[in-house]
Amino acid sequence: MQAIRSIVVLTGAGISAESGVATFRGPDRLWEGHRVEDVATPEAFARNPVLVQAFYDARRAKLAEVEPNAAHEALARLDAHWPGDLLIVTQNVDDLHERAGAKRLLHMHGELKSAWCLACDARMPWDAPISDGPSCTVCNAPGHLRPDIVWFGEMPYEMERIDRALMDADLFVSIGTSGAVYPAAGYVQTARYAGARTLELNLEPSLGSVFFHESRIGPAGRLVPEWVEEMLAG
Ligand code: APR
Repeated sequence: MQAIRSIVVLTGAGISAESGVATFRGPDRLWEGHRVEDVATPEAFARNPVLVQAFYDARRAKLAEVEPNAAHEALARLDAHWPGDLLIVTQNVDDLHERAGAKRLLHMHGELKSAWCLACDARMPWDAPISDGPSCTVCNAPGHLRPDIVWFGEMPYEMERIDRALMDADLFVSIGTSGAVYPAAGYVQTARYAGARTLELNLEPSLGSVFFHESRIGPAGRLVPEWVEEMLAG
């Protein structure tokens, strides 16, 4: 096997499941009768901003009740000790990777703890409800904040940086994602065509399972620490 220097890790909702954060496409996918697609689109926000703001306010408030699990902690250990390049690309909007200590991290679908002002276009740290129309901390305009979340039909963040990392990667590891949502679902193929070895760690085979060199099936809280120990042991 080629020597591994550069690693890209993609994470999805499954890595936070053992912390008690609901996944999107599991049995508990309905939120008060709504599919996530019906609350996570610009059209839904235009149609019913109160509903969409309340949905994200509830998810933001829930973060105070959850803690990083062994999988987040293991990735933070990898981040601290891996001597080569590493980029953790998360589709998750929770803050569990950073609370575990991960630094080389990028939130491609935005963050619950960030707000975006539609009046001045600034993004700002946010840890309170938005549904009551607070003022922007940059331009002071009231009632123009939205969750800084990438909704269906919007462009994920940092696509160029992610593509560059995938092209350079010796190893691509996908953790806890169903492979239902592009562009992230296509990263395995980008990395593999560019020469990376590809590994999936998931509770069940994902939709893109066949594209991986190797799939390990089980809970992230067990599989991720095992894999990180392998990497750090050399
Ligand atoms: N350990 C590992 N994998 C798990 C665990 C666990 N404990 N629990 C669930 N999983 C797996 C599921 O089997 C599933 O394949 O995690 C995956 C979660 O899939 P989704 O719920 O579809 O979440 P994700 O892939 O992150 O969704 C992608 O879709 O809704 C949008 O923007 C949202 O970022 C999200 C994107």
